[in-house]
Amino acid sequence: MPLSFDIVSNPNPTSAARLAQILANPGFVNHFSDHMAQATWTAAQGWHDSAVTAFDAWAMSPGSAVFHYAQEIFEGLKVYRHQDGTIWLFRPEMNAQRLQRSASRLDLPQLTVEDFLTSVNALARVDEAWVPSGDEMSYYMRPFMVADEAFLGVHSASRVRYAVIGGPAAPYLADGMTPVDIWVTTTYSRAGDGGTGGVKCGGNYASALAAQREGSQHGCPQVLFTDAAHHEWIEELGGMNFFAVRSDGMLITPPTAGTILEGITRDSILTLAPSLGLTPDVRPLSIAELLDGIATGQIREAFACGTAAVVTPIGRLTHRVNGVVESADLAEPLGEATSAIRKALVDIQWGRAEDRFGWMHRVGQ
Ligand code: PLP
Ligand code: COI
Repeated sequence: MPLSFDIVSNPNPTSAARLAQILANPGFVNHFSDHMAQATWTAAQGWHDSAVTAFDAWAMSPGSAVFHYAQEIFEGLKVYRHQDGTIWLFRPEMNAQRLQRSASRLDLPQLTVEDFLTSVNALARVDEAWVPSGDEMSYYMRPFMVADEAFLGVHSASRVRYAVIGGPAAPYLADGMTPVDIWVTTTYSRAGDGGTGGVKCGGNYASALAAQREGSQHGCPQVLFTDAAHHEWIEELGGMNFFAVRSDGMLITPPTAGTILEGITRDSILTLAPSLGLTPDVRPLSIAELLDGIATGQIREAFACGTAAVVTPIGRLTHRVNGVVESADLAEPLGEATSAIRKALVDIQWGRAEDRFGWMHRVGQ
């Protein structure tokens, strides 16, 4: 039976004046909107008690498994307001399917694609007034699932909560176009063969925090991870996929291969590339090849991409070689290729270009 996410309205909604203040300067989800979608799963009953209710705190036992063993997965997707006022989701079925893959890996229950879509649509609809209309602004949604069984033995939870929360969002990094400096870590790994790097679970992000601290000590706000076995091959950033552009038009990104998240933005860029005169080149890329390409001028642009970050140019790569910290500057961070890719993508998302691939889903239809 499909779940219904019927709306129980928040009795104390945010005032119009306060909402206008929030929308004028939202940060990256500094404020959550008035409602949340939620459902409970138990081994005995399956999914039940689904509804959209007021955004509110949860009472959970301190013994709940998620607090101890991190049985948690999540998704991230945005609601875009088009110029005619309508609101749209970008490839939400891809998020639904990825949540299913994450659930399999963390041994959490499956939520159908249909139930996922119903939940995100219901929240977008009820909190439609929270979807901003400014340039680059959107409403960011965070569907997630947590183990909520109070038991300290290590086993898959027999009680799980699913919820969708969200709020207005500006680009994740600065204005989304200012180049970001990257620390290439060879100290820490984010993923290994057979691990959880290819799925979206909270543990991946917790384990990246020490690397982020290491990066910030070297003046870099974001970290690029390399392969765990040799620290030779580029993988991805803590919350974004990585691309390098070669001057002959090759658009290089490593294969996901179980250790890299299958980004929806990454997939969309690979699909758009040929129409922009770029050739997708999905293959392993070593740090040595990347640095050599930057030094010889063959690689003049590189960027990070993801739902939150959109397409963010990379300005500088800093790393440690034989104990010495060195930097390499990209010659043209927001160069022709990066700008064209960014524009092609955001023009579809904000309804300014034809949706050739049927990626946009109108909320409420
Ligand atoms: N890689 C990681 C580790 C991420 O957390 C994200 C963000 O979702 C991405 C890549 C980009 O994925 P997507 O484009 O689906 O947002
Ligand atoms: C997203 O882009 O949706 C993410 O989950 C990345 C996170 C760092 C905000």
